[in-house]
Amino acid sequence: MDQLLVALDVDTAAGAQALANTLRGSVVGFKIGSRLFTAEGPRLVEELVGHGDRVFLDLKFHDIPNTVAGAVGAATRLGVWMLNVHASGGGAMMRAARDAADDEAARTSRRAPLVIAVTMLTSLSAEGLAEIGMADAMESQVERLAALAESSGLDGVVASAHEIAAIRRRCGSAFQIVTPGIRGRGDAIGDQSRTMSAADALTAGASYLVVGRPIIAAPDPRAAAERLAAECRGAHA
Ligand code: C5P
Repeated sequence: MDQLLVALDVDTAAGAQALANTLRGSVVGFKIGSRLFTAEGPRLVEELVGHGDRVFLDLKFHDIPNTVAGAVGAATRLGVWMLNVHASGGGAMMRAARDAADDEAARTSRRAPLVIAVTMLTSLSAEGLAEIGMADAMESQVERLAALAESSGLDGVVASAHEIAAIRRRCGSAFQIVTPGIRGRGDAIGDQSRTMSAADALTAGASYLVVGRPIIAAPDPRAAAERLAAECRGAHA
């Protein structure tokens, strides 16, 4: 299924490889986040890329522009397909990320990764926003940061399903919207606070869905992925 990305939120390279071997062919790619990357490092990324997998490196870089540029250059050399930064790092930081991805890709004769931004973490509530001194409503905060990501040359954003429509209106149809927090009717919500079904998120305009526990914690992950893929195809029918 060409819009389903699976979050390999496990602690070991062996566990991640086993999941990738099980799911390869039924999903479009794999997301490696800070948990697995901190435990197992870049070799696992290279191994998956060596298998021909699309890897979304979800390390949400947020630092001074020069440091983020160095990290993005290193991720580009690993051959990742997509990576992300925090939009709240600002326009200069995002432009440095874009330039580093393009420059390193040109220098090493490979395709530049898609560079996307996290607007607001989907786990943040209105209270969580107030706590860090953000007075704006979640929706306007997300829209403003998405517009800043776009004008800084990024390819898209990570956004909750509930923000897709507003971002699509503001940033156009070519902008990539990558949406976590996908849950089916019977799934546990866990720590996500703004969930939606796969079909509804795609109908709202998501480009890619990121799904973790509903697939990786299922008794039969491949069957769970295929069920979701069928639901996604249904959304386009
Ligand atoms: O298990 P679940 O389906 O909730 O996993 C969602 C994945 O998406 C996790 O890896 C989580 O870190 C990630 N993510 C998120 N919200 C964001 C950015 C990333 O849930 N804003």
